[in-house]
Amino acid sequence: MAFTLAPDATLLKPIRVGDTDARNRIFMAPLTRSRAQADGTPSDLAAEYYSQRAGAGLIITEATAVSEVANGAYMNTPGNYTDRHQEKWAEIAGAVHDAGGRIFMQLWHVGRMGHPEVNGGIEPVAPSAIAADMTTHTPSGKKALVVPRALRTDEIPGIIADFRAAARRAVDAGLDGVEIHGANGYLLHQFSSDVTNQRTDAYGGSPENRARLTAEVVEAVVDEIGAGRVGLRISPGNSAGDMREENTVAVYEALLNRIAPLGLAYLHVLIDPSAREFGVLRAVWSGTLVLNTGRETGTDFCQLESYAEWGAASAVAVGRTFLANPDLIDRLLLGAELNEPDVATFYAPGAEGYIDYPTLAELEEPRTA
Ligand SMILES: Cc1cc2nc3c(=O)[nH]c(=O)nc-3n(C[C@H](O)[C@H](O)[C@H](O)COP(=O)(O)O)c2cc1C
Repeated sequence: MAFTLAPDATLLKPIRVGDTDARNRIFMAPLTRSRAQADGTPSDLAAEYYSQRAGAGLIITEATAVSEVANGAYMNTPGNYTDRHQEKWAEIAGAVHDAGGRIFMQLWHVGRMGHPEVNGGIEPVAPSAIAADMTTHTPSGKKALVVPRALRTDEIPGIIADFRAAARRAVDAGLDGVEIHGANGYLLHQFSSDVTNQRTDAYGGSPENRARLTAEVVEAVVDEIGAGRVGLRISPGNSAGDMREENTVAVYEALLNRIAPLGLAYLHVLIDPSAREFGVLRAVWSGTLVLNTGRETGTDFCQLESYAEWGAASAVAVGRTFLANPDLIDRLLLGAELNEPDVATFYAPGAEGYIDYPTLAELEEPRTA
């Protein structure tokens, strides 16, 4: 597979996202890689992995837990709630900046997707005690997800405080900003859905109530680090994480109407742009919009360029193709063949499939012993 972008393509033009100058509009989508150390400190290889991909207009990191209970959907995923975590993230941010890149940290609470066997015995929490009908890999093999404990109303301020504290640590570590993970069936998405959220307090029921936790997290993080350093990811109608939503548009309209005046760096939407929901939400959101189409058949850069040209998207996020092509931008300019992602090493430990995807230069001049 190969695509050619002209040097004057919209996707290659710089863009300002909040307080950050991105050198092009092709961002690296958040990608969990399961290489972190047992205590949630990122891998020693992560600085190299991310700096190899500094050609992206903006790197959005893998989902990073805001607390211990927020972790545990998959093995070896990082956090940003201890000094040791923060020190490693500072090393990663420094390496990306030295390579000319920009980096936002995706902040994550897994909610009911957590498994006690992955997370030191910690019981997962969620809006309601409803299990996802799914399995996850644990140290003792594949296990069904468990029924989570429903959060009490008086525990919600603590969740918001965890996002706030992790955002502060991200900025103190030198990252350019944070992306709040409101997508893909994790805690904030579980609150948005009328299926996984059956609460009767101020965080359940009406669309405004279901949007409340995400909005309050966004507001707290904005208060902590400034709107120009905050993005939000949503995936309206996406079924990842055994997610169902019955009146999708209403909750996201309520959310976007509430947060629009804050002036966030961007809204990141994982959606097929031909979906009805996208048209409605694009009309509500006049700010910077990062689009991830997530097509099963892989990224079509010609199609993405046309979304950017029309203004349907301000920038695009690319996941698997960036994972496999550290020098993606150079390849697109040259129309060079793209490396294929190796699914078997997406979540495998070690360097293979992580920092060893070759650049074009390495393909042309193979490393000699
Ligand atoms: C290996 C892998 C890990 C992922 N991890 C995350 C994640 O940590 N956070 C997130 O929001 N999405 C995650 N996603 C979803 C991607 O960000 C993206 O939406 C998806 O891969 C579709 O985009 P693509 O076709 O460009 O790969 C992951 C996807 C893959 C393949």
